[in-house]
This record gives sequence, structure tokens and C-alpha cells, in this order.
Amino acid sequence: MSLPDRPGRIPVPPAGLAGRARPRLIERYRAFLPITDATPALTLGEGFTPLVRLNRIGQRLGLDNLFAKVEGQNPTGSFKDRGMVVAVSKAIEAGAEGLICASTGNTSASAAAYGAAAGVEVVVVLPRGQIAAGKLLQAQIAGARVVAIEGNFDQALRIVREMADSKDHPVTLVNSVNPFRLDGQKTGAFEVCDDLGSAPDILAIPVGNAGNISAYWAGFCDYRTAGRTTNVPRMFGFQAAGAAPIVLGHQVDAPETIATAIRIGDPASWTKATSARDDSGGLIESVTDDQILAAWRELSTAEGIFCEPSSAAGLAGIARLAGEGRLDRSATIVCVLTGSGLKDPITAEANVSGMIEAGPSAGEVSAALRW
Ligand SMILES: Cc1ncc(COP(=O)(O)O)c(C=O)c1O
Repeated sequence: MSLPDRPGRIPVPPAGLAGRARPRLIERYRAFLPITDATPALTLGEGFTPLVRLNRIGQRLGLDNLFAKVEGQNPTGSFKDRGMVVAVSKAIEAGAEGLICASTGNTSASAAAYGAAAGVEVVVVLPRGQIAAGKLLQAQIAGARVVAIEGNFDQALRIVREMADSKDHPVTLVNSVNPFRLDGQKTGAFEVCDDLGSAPDILAIPVGNAGNISAYWAGFCDYRTAGRTTNVPRMFGFQAAGAAPIVLGHQVDAPETIATAIRIGDPASWTKATSARDDSGGLIESVTDDQILAAWRELSTAEGIFCEPSSAAGLAGIARLAGEGRLDRSATIVCVLTGSGLKDPITAEANVSGMIEAGPSAGEVSAALRW
């Protein structure tokens, strides 16, 4: 059965009546965002994600103030919604009829959802066979047109940049090279400061196309300039070992890692990310797939937080540095968990033990449990 055609476009109302009882992310941080009275009040309820203290993992690692920013609780299950709501709102304000993006999965899910809410066409170009199942389905169910190429993310990004530049079709590019995306993603840093009462000592984050680390750093700097925080964190970025161009100092032609969301060999925001690293006195290092999977699993088993594997790269890096004695026990450390574990059921399925079979009675279930 095919999806019904997208109904005619209903104008997104101007800001004002929408969401009066519950604050909107864009309104909360309006002073820091490129929002005008003409910007439509598009929202799916993004932002306001929890900052959770990681008690048990912190204790194991010898870290007294370890936190997770749980970005999987955004509407489409990843941090991308923070930037997408701003990018799509600004695109609609400018009269765009369509959106286009390349994606390792989460950008396409987010663009498809916000495009559907705004009533505009969405085209996503992605590497065939390299997208987690949940993300691909999110894009398709929202009615986006999905083009799978025989190539990697870096090639997909080059293609959509060329198409958006060509002006053959009036589409707006909504990858993180769109500055409104990074503006919106700064709100993650604002929320961390507001929840802690100051910036953390260290912000640990996965690095793929390098937009998010750049946005967080810009957000912390904006907050300090505005006097909302007196300190800024050291930025600790972590790439997957098989897709670590910034760590290696050169492009990676065939990036490979189980962390598909950060399987990127030529990050678009490379120089912004190295500036964030250097200006903050931070670092960008790599973590192996085994380290990523260990952190990912421990988040579920020890803390009850199910994120997607790529999201755990920041914590994997912190765990390694703690093991090497490179962290202060009392430092306040925030790991950004960028997306929900429900995005990637196939990796989860490959990492759980089977179910226990039993007959349909309390006695048989008890016996199967060896009670
Ligand atoms: C879950 C997840 N984590 C991390 C990243 C990396 O973010 P960035 O590309 O901004 O470095 C992505 C990007 O797609 C992602 O989807």
C-alpha cells in the first residue's frame, strides 16, 4: 500500500498562540537564535532533554560528576531536531518549496518529519545499505523521497550540495553546512548550562560531520559572552577508529565502523571542530568499535539508558581516558548521547542473548527461570 499524497500545504502559524502553555525551544532561547516575527512557529516539541547523572558508571570509572545529556528524547529520536526546527523554519520563512539533505540516517529522519509538518517536499540522498533500519523507516513513513546511492556519505553530501547550488529546483539544503542548523544545535549547550547552573568542565561528544561539536562550542561561547555562564568546557570529541579523519589528519576514503551515524571520512565542519578543540584546550581522539559497544551496552545495563551505538562514542572516550588516569575525579563531565537506541534494532538484536522459552503456567515459567 502506498502512502497517500501529501495534503496541500497548510501555513504554519506565526509565533504567538502555538504552544503557549509549554515553552518552545525556539522561544526559550530566542535571544540567541536568528528568529524574527516573520519566522513560522514550527515545532514538534524538540529540546528540553534530560541531563541524567550516571551514578553507577561514574562510580566504576572513579568520576564523581559524570552526566549524560539524553538527546534520544527529541521528537525524532536524535539531536538533529534542534537544528532542523530552525533550518526548516527559516527555509519556510524564505519561501522554500522543498528540502534536500545527505544523511547517515538521523538527518533524513529529522528533515522528513519537519518537512512533513511544514508541508514541503523532502528529498534525502544516502549511502545504500548503510543506514540503521529505524532511521530509514522514519524518513520513508513521513513521505520523504529517498535516493540510495552506491557510495558513501561524503559522496552523498557532495551530490546534494551540487543540486542545491544548481538552482534547477528551488530546494534548501538542510545538512549542517546550513548555518541555521548549527544555530539551533547550540541550544544543547544552553540547556546543559541551565541545568548545571554553569558550564561543565568537560563536554564529551561523538564526531562525524563535526557540526555538533562546533555548535556546542559556539553555544558555550555565546552563553559566556551573554554572562549566562562564567566558564566554558574543554571540548572532547571522539571519532570511531575506522572513521577518524580529524585524528589522523587526513581524509579517509573508505570509512568503516559499526557506528554508522559517524561513518564519515571528510567532515564538512572539520576546521570548526579543530578550532573548538584548540580554543577550549580540548582534544579529538578515536575509540574502537569494541569500546563504543562496551559503553553503549553499559549505558543500558547499568543506567537504563538505551542510546544508539554512535551516541556512546563520547562516553567510550571518557571511559578510556579515565582508565588511563587522564581525568580529574571531581571534574563535571557531560557526555552527549546523540540518538535513541530504538533507531538501530539490528545492532541491538545482535548483542542480546535469546529469550527463555517456557510453557504457559506460573510453574513452568518459574522452572524456566530456575527459581
Ligand atoms: C547519533 C549521531 N551521533 C553523532 C553524530 C555526529 O554528529 P556530527 O555529524 O554533527 O558530528 C550523528 C550525525 O549524524 C548522529 O546521527
